[in-house]
This record gives sequence, C-alpha cells and structure tokens, in this order.
Amino acid sequence: MTLRVSVIGTNYLGATTAAGMAEFGHQVIGVDILPERIAKLNAGTSPIYEHNLEPLLELHTRSGRLRFTTDYAEIADWADVHILCLGTPQSASGAADLSQLHAAIDTLAPQLTRPALILGKSTVPVGTAAELQERARRLAPAGDGVEIAWNPEFLREAFAVEDTLRPDRIVLGVQSSSARTLLEQVYAIPLSEQTPLVTCDLATAELIKVAANAFLATKISFINAMAQMCQAAGGDVTLLADAIGYDSRIGREFLNAGLGFGGGCFPKDIRALAVRADELGVDVLSDFISSVEAINEGQRAAVAELTVAQVGGDISGKRVAVLGASFKPGTDDTRNSPALTVAAQLADQGAEVYVFDPQAVVVRPGLTQAASVEEAVTGADIVLHLTEWPEFRYLDPARLAELVRTRIIIDGRLKLHQPTWQQAGWKIVQIGRAATL
Ligand code: UDX
Repeated sequence: MTLRVSVIGTNYLGATTAAGMAEFGHQVIGVDILPERIAKLNAGTSPIYEHNLEPLLELHTRSGRLRFTTDYAEIADWADVHILCLGTPQSASGAADLSQLHAAIDTLAPQLTRPALILGKSTVPVGTAAELQERARRLAPAGDGVEIAWNPEFLREAFAVEDTLRPDRIVLGVQSSSARTLLEQVYAIPLSEQTPLVTCDLATAELIKVAANAFLATKISFINAMAQMCQAAGGDVTLLADAIGYDSRIGREFLNAGLGFGGGCFPKDIRALAVRADELGVDVLSDFISSVEAINEGQRAAVAELTVAQVGGDISGKRVAVLGASFKPGTDDTRNSPALTVAAQLADQGAEVYVFDPQAVVVRPGLTQAASVEEAVTGADIVLHLTEWPEFRYLDPARLAELVRTRIIIDGRLKLHQPTWQQAGWKIVQIGRAATL
C-alpha cells in the first residue's frame, strides 16, 4: 500500500530515510529549511558522501516518487505520517540539544488541521517523545488528534542505505493500535522479509537506541582495556579477541582494539545518556559510561605518548606522517575523529604533521593534508596508521622504507601485517600486541 510520507530534516539521516521510503514504494516529500540543500536534492544530488545514496535519490526524484521542499504547508495535511529526522547535537553541558526538533514541531503543528501521526527517528534523551507530543498538541488545531510514535534508527555511516533497506530489526514505540497498523504499512516491505519487529512504549523505544550505542561502545572500551593488560603482561589482544569472539554469547564484532571510537554519534549519544541518567538519579549508569569514555580518551593519549617516546621524547620539529583522518574507513566524516585528535596533539607539541586520507578533507591548524601516502611519508621521522582504510593494508613497506627518514610505524588500528613490515626493515609498534623486534 502506497502511503504519503513526509521526512523532516534532510541531512544524513533524513536524506537516507527519504530515499529509503521512496524505495519502499511510498510517495515522499522531504522538507528542510536550507534552500540550497533542497535544490541539490531535487536534482538527485546527495548532500553527503554515502555509498549508494546518490543513485537511489536520482532514481526516485526522476520517477516522481520523491521530491523536496522548504515549505511545510505542502506536507502538513498531505502526509499520512511525518518522520522527524533532525539532528540532536551535543550542547555545552553534554546533553542533547533538542532545538531542531522543537523548531520543526513549532512550524509543523500549527498547520495540522486533521489527525496526524508524527514519527521520531532522531536519537533523543528518554522522555523527549512524550514532551514533543504535548508541545505539538498544544499548538495544533487538530489538538489531541496529533500522536507521536518513536522509531529509532541504527544506521552506520558508509552502510546507511543498506541498513535502511535491510535493517536488523524495526523498533516501534507506539501508543495506539492505529499507529501500529499504519507503521506496519510504512515498513511493509522489510517486515515481509522477516525483519524482527519490536513494538513497545515510547520510553523503551528511545532507550533501545542509546542502549545499543552504549553497549557497542562498551565492547570497544572493554577490548581496549584488555589491550592495555596485554601490553603490560606481554599478551596479544588480537588473538584474545578472536578467541573470546568465537563464543557466540560474546561475538567477534566491535572487539577491534586500537584508537577507539569516534564519529558524530557514539561519543555524543553516550554522553547524552550519561547526562540523562544523572538527571534521573541513575548514578550507576552515568558512572559506567564515564569509565567507557575515559578508556576511549585514554587510547588517543596513549598513542600520542607512544609516538613521542618512539622519537626519543621530544616530537618538536619532527616530521610525522599520519595515515587516515576520517573517524572510520569508508566515510569522509572527521567529526570526533580519533586519528585527528592524535595528529592535533602531536602538532600542538611542535611536530610537523602530514595527513593523508583517501576521502576526508583535513582542515585543522597545524596539520597539512598530503595528496598521497608517498607525499605524507617522505622524510618522515615516524609513520602513524590511525584509520584502517583497506588500501593501507596493501601498502608496500619496502617502497615506503626508501622514502622515510626513520623506519618506525605505529599501527593504531592493529590491522597491518607485522612480519611484512618487519621484513622490510621497519620497527612496527602495535598497542596490545607484543612486538617481535
Ligand atoms: C554507530 C552505530 O553503529 C549505529 O548503529 C548508530 O546509529 C550510529 O553510531 P557509526 O558512527 O557509523 O555508527 O560507526 P560504527 O561503524 O559503529 O563505528 C563507531 C566507531 O567505533 C568508529 O570510530 C570505529 O572506528 C570504532 N570501532 C568500531 C572500534 O574502535 N572498534 C571496533 O571493533 C568497532
């Protein structure tokens, strides 16, 4: 059944959701306050670099199933469901800034003259959905006919289209059976493909998202703490992760030790969860998350310290080559990038830092972007492998050995093949793995 769906907010989440909804067969209008972005989207151009998104936008803007506007009047009484895909950035206190969601409700609600379902997808502190419903009902001519439901997204950057079209699960926080029925029609295609469905109340839906993020972050910090243990005791954290990962109760995913997590979601979402836990007096959770964060930050500092130690204790005036700038491979996103934090810490201590990344643009004072790996490493006193782009695994250490001043590489992601680098005359240092040199 074809529904009329509006998607409010057209950045990373909104653009992907709008394209996905069109692919599910619905009529879709995306709304945003930025006219330049709307013009681009109407031409089928993606506002962000995301694998497979542009072809899908192109296909459905051409087919007429998908269009974009800046005018809320076009969607208010048109849509069967309004999907909120707005950002919830971090505010100075660490709490989520809900102003974009508030502004969208304040614009939409006064135009809702007939009963409407508003479906939130943004990651929010628990209690937000109920609060937005109250706000919308106060402002809407339709009053209590306006209902909120919550449907968290679990999109990974670089896999956002795949995760939208073939999600691991669909979570629907609903308050009525009519909302549930309508949303099952919205997701009829993935549900027909046996995607697990969890139906729950609003608060549980909001918490499911942040719990998923916090649990994954915990896995990463746990393995990084074990990496330090391996370092202290002479063990190998990669073999340890492989071995415990074979236990299906544990699983190998998100047990890659190294520089830890970054990006636009994990760090801000778990901080916002800690702040909300504090507000609600759930100290055990906020303390727990603070430990996860402290371990994560510690990994960045440890790699920076290790680098300084490897060049003899003073990095000032030394040339450092950094491979990788994005927060993870497959994206040009540098928000809260562990690689850039380490690079900036070294630049602050007077190092000359050259950064190469296959996609990301580096705009930080003190860091110079190199056009190739070769350019970055030429004359380097030390090389740092900080974001594990697959192409870095296939670099030729013998060739790079001819370009550098000193053959030392720190593998901050534990992905390089130690013996290959050693055979080419390199000292390769991997946190949590005993060096055989
Ligand atoms: C994450 C969640 O996976 C997604 O469900 C949520 O909606 C948004 O946040 P994303 O930020 O795209 O997605 O990145 P993800 O692939 O999950 O990686 C997060 C960070 O953890 C990256 O910095 C990555 O390098 C790091 N990481 C991941 C590790 O350090 N070790 C691992 O084993 C896995």
